[in-house]
Amino acid sequence: MTNILFVTSSPRGAASHSSRVAEQVVERLQAAAPGSMVVRRDLNREPLPHLGETLLGAFFSSPDAHSEEQRDLVALSDKLVDEVFAADVIVIAAAMINFTIPSTLKTWLDYIARSGKTFHYGEKGPEGLVKGKHVILVEAKGGIYSEGPMKIHDYQQPYLRFILGFMGMTDVEVVGVEGVAFGPEAAEKSLAAAGIRADEAARMVHEARAAA
Ligand SMILES: Cc1cc2nc3c(=O)[nH]c(=O)nc-3n(C[C@H](O)[C@H](O)[C@H](O)COP(=O)(O)O)c2cc1C
Repeated sequence: MTNILFVTSSPRGAASHSSRVAEQVVERLQAAAPGSMVVRRDLNREPLPHLGETLLGAFFSSPDAHSEEQRDLVALSDKLVDEVFAADVIVIAAAMINFTIPSTLKTWLDYIARSGKTFHYGEKGPEGLVKGKHVILVEAKGGIYSEGPMKIHDYQQPYLRFILGFMGMTDVEVVGVEGVAFGPEAAEKSLAAAGIRADEAARMVHEARAAA
């Protein structure tokens, strides 16, 4: 049995390629390990309030001094952190929006990147505290970034890899859909390749878990 945390974030809702391919990943993981539990976080339908003064103030003050709003926001952040720790596999679907991730996904990261919980600074610098997770990252992009002149302008995958790694999640399989803005033929080709890669990533993660 696998505990899966499934995070979707595309503002394109039902039209989202990343969400659809990620759904396939989750289905394959469930098929490989019957009885698996899936916790879904649809950040597009249920966006989190942006990180602001109220929550930030709560992170850096004593719980005794918190307002009711601060208590609610900290409880929400704690719940999201708990979901991450409870998961064996985290499947994240990310659209590329203005060269990076959707703001809803950024906010989720703002809620789970918690000093003392998901990372800490020790004598040797920062250390991620979320260990032993498998992450499958499904990304969708209008342009081509895997090669060519736009490669250096991919602020989506490098950022996600870095922040996840910062919290200790270094085992990341990427399933990429790209070039969907280059016409239906290019989109179809990329989606077909992503479908194969989605199956492969789910199989690899399942086998790695079974071997552990
Ligand atoms: C508001 C908006 C901004 C976008 N910005 C970019 C971009 O900066 N670079 C790019 O390659 N594609 C961009 N796209 C295209 C999306 O990355 C593409 O539609 C992709 O399929 C989105 O993922 P999704 O299918 O999961 O929604 C943008 C799309 C939208 C709607």
